[in-house]
Amino acid sequence: DPNAPISIDPFKTVARELKFLTKNIRQLLGSGHPSLDTVAKYYTQSEGKYVRPMLVLLMSRATALTPQVARERSIYGVNKPITDPEVLTDLNPSAPQYSTLSSMSHDSAYTQEDSDILPSQRRLAEITELIHTASLLHDDVIDHSQSRRSAPSANIEFGNKMAVLAGDFLLGRASVALARLRDPEVTELLATVIANLVEGEFMQLKNTARDEKNPVWTEDTLSYYLQKTYLKSASLISKSCRAAAILGQTTPEVVEAAYSYGKNLGLAFQLVDDMLDYTVSGAELGKPAGADLELGLATAPLLFAWKDNKSLGKLVGRKFSGEGDVQTAREIVADSSGLEQTRALAQEYVDKAIEAISGFPESEAKHGLIEMCTKVMKRRK
Ligand code: FPP
Ligand code: MG
Ligand code: MG
Repeated sequence: DPNAPISIDPFKTVARELKFLTKNIRQLLGSGHPSLDTVAKYYTQSEGKYVRPMLVLLMSRATALTPQVARERSIYGVNKPITDPEVLTDLNPSAPQYSTLSSMSHDSAYTQEDSDILPSQRRLAEITELIHTASLLHDDVIDHSQSRRSAPSANIEFGNKMAVLAGDFLLGRASVALARLRDPEVTELLATVIANLVEGEFMQLKNTARDEKNPVWTEDTLSYYLQKTYLKSASLISKSCRAAAILGQTTPEVVEAAYSYGKNLGLAFQLVDDMLDYTVSGAELGKPAGADLELGLATAPLLFAWKDNKSLGKLVGRKFSGEGDVQTAREIVADSSGLEQTRALAQEYVDKAIEAISGFPESEAKHGLIEMCTKVMKRRK
């Protein structure tokens, strides 16, 4: 059937690039201190989903076919290959004991000229995964997590102190790699992401804008949640899509489209995540299910249920800490349309993401980006 939709596996489209990603990330995380080396690389052992790097690589490839503009370059040149000896020398070669950053070169396959993905865009993909992994290290300490990616979480394996420090180390190395891209706008974007992650996490510490004992449901309830969701999840995805387009010298319209795609997909991604916390078993998730209520968090499914069942306000106010609160809330959510409404909202965002890149020229990468939207809606983990 010539009219059948072509099915593109987004993973396959960038499989060659992803093959080198983990190896390069591990290189970026090398430390001469053996235990720091181990803790920093811990989450690179278990295969993550690589959602963010995959999006950066697909976006880079899809926007390579759009019109290019000559952007104002820094004195170093925006897309100078990262393998240049000048930028390869360590920042502080006179104090090398614990710093093994000198091996920051890309794998040789990365510098092949036939590829439409720039070395800087590949590095950006690695940086996004580094920042994401750093946030997981910190998040698992904050959430007292026991498991991540079907293995003991780093805080359990090494303790809180080392987990926090390893997260900081990842951010440090991500910052060095970012600086070496020599693009101030991209640096600013990704530095903002790090601040946004903290802002999102802070908003999450409080369920509502004002810390009330018996909060009332208003339209602000949902917008507070969505703002938090943007900061916590969509900021990294949207700004790294934007950065990929910037590194590709694309026009301002394409940069905005890339950003809009990432923002909408990122919001959908987290809405689905919050839904799965209610609907999927811990065994399938690879991390404990039903964790949000236990942590006192009111996410989209509960917020929608609350709109129709005002008795939830009291439970939200005390963060489900009362006897039987978690169970009660779970039952109210299950009997409500909260989960359906969450899915419907995620679908709206996914539709907007696809619409945002509709003007991109036809390509396998573009279809990969569209397929990512379908995958986000279908995922079970
Ligand atoms: C996972 O969410 C965590 C995040 C998306 C971001 C967490 C951000 C911080 C801890 C801020 C500080 C970190 C850095 C690196 C600046 P989740 O707990 O809802 O998901 P989970 O079920 O996977 O644990
Ligand atoms: Mg967590
Ligand atoms: Mg958390």
